[in-house]
Amino acid sequence: MEPITVALLGCGNLGSALTGGILDPADKNTLNIKHLIATVGTEDSKRRVEESFSEHSPRLTVLLQHENLRAIKEADVVIFAVKPVKRAEVFESPGVREALRGKLLISIMAGISTKELARLALGDSPSADEQSSFQAIRAMPNMAAKIREAVTLYTANLDTLSKENYKITSWLFNQVGEGQYISESTFDISAVLVGCAGSLLLLAVDGLLDAAVAEGVKRTEATKMVVNSAIGMMKLVPAGDHPSVLREKIASPGGCSIRALLELEKLGVRSAFTSAILAAAERSKGMSQTK
Ligand SMILES: NC(=O)c1ccc[n+]([C@@H]2O[C@H](COP(=O)([O-])OP(=O)(O)OC[C@H]3O[C@@H](n4cnc5c(N)ncnc54)[C@H](OP(=O)(O)O)[C@@H]3O)[C@@H](O)[C@H]2O)c1
Repeated sequence: MEPITVALLGCGNLGSALTGGILDPADKNTLNIKHLIATVGTEDSKRRVEESFSEHSPRLTVLLQHENLRAIKEADVVIFAVKPVKRAEVFESPGVREALRGKLLISIMAGISTKELARLALGDSPSADEQSSFQAIRAMPNMAAKIREAVTLYTANLDTLSKENYKITSWLFNQVGEGQYISESTFDISAVLVGCAGSLLLLAVDGLLDAAVAEGVKRTEATKMVVNSAIGMMKLVPAGDHPSVLREKIASPGGCSIRALLELEKLGVRSAFTSAILAAAERSKGMSQTK
C-alpha cells in the first residue's frame, strides 16, 4: 500500500492515544504513515501535543482548529476525534465537505451513527453516486488505547467500503490494542460496553478502596491490592472461566465472599449495572439526533 497522510481532528485524550499508535506502530510492515496532521482547539493543547510527540516531529504537524480544512486537504484519511457536540461546527465549516470527497472518514465520536456521518459529510440529499462512493467508519475505542490495550469496535457499510480502507482501519486500531468489526445493529450497546463499562468498574474499585481506608489501610496500598487482584481475576475469564462459575468457585460455603455477594444482591448492584449500561445505550442511540 502507498504511504498515507492522516489528519486527526481533535487531538485530545483519545486523539493523542491514537496519535501514539499511528506514529509509533507495532506493525511497521502493513502500512506506512507519511505524515500525521493533528488539530486542536487551543494554543495550550497545540504545545501539549507537540511536546508529547517531539520525537516524531518530522512526521507530525499540529494545527489549530481554524486550519482543519488545510489538514483535511492534505490527508488521505481523516479521523474525527472532536466531541460529538462539535461535529456540526467542524463539518459545516466552509470547504470541509468538498475537501472530504474521496477520502476515508473515521469517526470515534460517541453515539454518531454512520447515517449521521453521511448526512454531515454529504448533506441531506446526496446523489446515489455520492452515497455509493462514500467511505466512512464509525468506531468506538476506549481510554486503554493510551497503553495500547483498547478494544475498538468499528462498523461500516461493507457494500461500499473498499478493501483497502477496511485494511487501513483495522491496521489503525490494532496499533492501540485490538480492533473488531461488528454490525451497526448492535453498535450502541456494544459501544457502551467498550467505551463506558470501564468507568462503572472503576466506581466499584473506588467503593472497595473506601472500605480498606476505613479499616486503616493506606489508599495507595489498597489501590495496588485491589487493582492487581482485579486484573488477575479478569484474566481468568478469557482463560476459560465463565464469570458466574468463577464467582461460585470463590464463594465457599459459610465464607466471606458469599456474605459480600449477598450484601450486593440485597442492594440491587447487579441490576443497577444492567440499568446503567442500558441507559448509556439509550443515550448513544439518541446522540445522532441531538445537535
Ligand atoms: N474519553 C473516552 O473515554 C472516549 C471513549 C470513546 C470515544 N470517545 C470519543 O472521542 C472523542 C474525543 O474524546 P476525548 O475524551 O478525547 O475528548 P477531549 O480530550 O476533550 O478531546 C477533544 C479535542 O478536540 C479539540 N477540539 C475542540 N474543538 C475542535 C475543533 N473545532 N477542531 C479540532 N479540534 C478541536 C480539543 O482541543 P482543546 O482542548 O484545545 O479545546 C481537544 O484536544 C469524543 O467524540 C468522544 O465521544 C471518547
